[in-house]
Amino acid sequence: MKENVILNGNSIEEMNKMEADSVDLIFADPPYWMRVEGVLKRVEGTEFDGCDDVWDQFESLDDYERFTKQWLEACYRVLKPNGSIWVIGGMQCIYTIGAMMQDIGFWLINDIIWHKKNPTPNFMGTRLNNSHETLIWAAKTKKSKYTFNYKTAKELNLDTVDPDEFAKGTRKQMGSVWRMAVCTGNERLKTDGGRKLHSTQKPLEMLERIVAISSKMGDVVLDPFGGTMTTGVAAKKLGRKYIMIERDPEYCQYGEIRLAETKFEDGPIARADYDKKPVRVTVQEMIEAGFLMEGEQFYFREGAAVASLLKDGKLDYQGKAMDMHSCAAAARGVKANRLNGFDYWYVLRGDERVSIADVREQYRESKK
Ligand SMILES: C[S@@+](CC[C@H](N)C(=O)[O-])C[C@H]1O[C@@H](n2cnc3c(N)ncnc32)[C@H](O)[C@@H]1O
Repeated sequence: MKENVILNGNSIEEMNKMEADSVDLIFADPPYWMRVEGVLKRVEGTEFDGCDDVWDQFESLDDYERFTKQWLEACYRVLKPNGSIWVIGGMQCIYTIGAMMQDIGFWLINDIIWHKKNPTPNFMGTRLNNSHETLIWAAKTKKSKYTFNYKTAKELNLDTVDPDEFAKGTRKQMGSVWRMAVCTGNERLKTDGGRKLHSTQKPLEMLERIVAISSKMGDVVLDPFGGTMTTGVAAKKLGRKYIMIERDPEYCQYGEIRLAETKFEDGPIARADYDKKPVRVTVQEMIEAGFLMEGEQFYFREGAAVASLLKDGKLDYQGKAMDMHSCAAAARGVKANRLNGFDYWYVLRGDERVSIADVREQYRESKK
């Protein structure tokens, strides 16, 4: 299977040529079937350039449903058993899509509200200003062990954390309302003649977030409705592979240029370093490596020595051999049977008390 490619063709046909169970992540921004009729005018009378493109036209609900079912089934077939899919849509289509996804077998993980910072006004004042779109995130099945880089998501969450607090290190769980601006200004791709290339280009910030939190370095990311290739750009920046499908040759042509200009940006977000689990380390191992010594005294943060270390990594507490977690609970006199010993025990290094959690870090570092 070719990777890092733009396939100029019909997404259903192209996906049907791909191997089953071959992609890790799918982002789909399908035609919404906006059903725009007539010319939309701003209050002062100028025409508003909304989405009335040919690729967004369907004859009937049946027609739209047939198309939606076909591409969703094709996505289901190519997605790996532990893969996941994101689909974005507005009120015109997201309910049809969500129902079909469940019929096909996808397992819903979240629905996310993209709250637009700069929505298009409702020029005529005939209904509420439509200021959001919905993203559905789903795994292939209920049993899928899909990727979720939980701590990386926290590092990207500025939706619910004040920027000053964020700078000071405050992190909160990412929620399901994302506040992002609609793509404008320099981010909007223009043709050589200066015309806006695409009417529904998605913000790169959104795609970077999706790729960063729900895939790993080296994973294959597929987008069946490539447009300006925003998904490919996010994938390449974050060290993932991409397969982009797009029917319109002009979008493909400008997309090739955009992707060629995109560089891999290595870093802790791309590598999801925040989510890496530290290597498990035993006390006995640290004794053997000389980071702890048989017979040395164990202290709490304050007070006299409480226990001494035995050769097998247990602690001698009042003549009884105990693992350090049970010993911490017993010596603190709490109701629990165990406390995390790494949060409680200290040893002496020179005149100073050093937490054994720090000793463990020094040992981990020495192994790198
Ligand atoms: C909503 S736009 C995607 C925009 C894209 N996410 C971006 O950021 O630029 C949908 C795209 O799907 C393409 N498209 C529509 N039907 C298609 C089909 N059957 N096969 C391939 N591409 C299709 C359209 O040409 C359009 O560019």
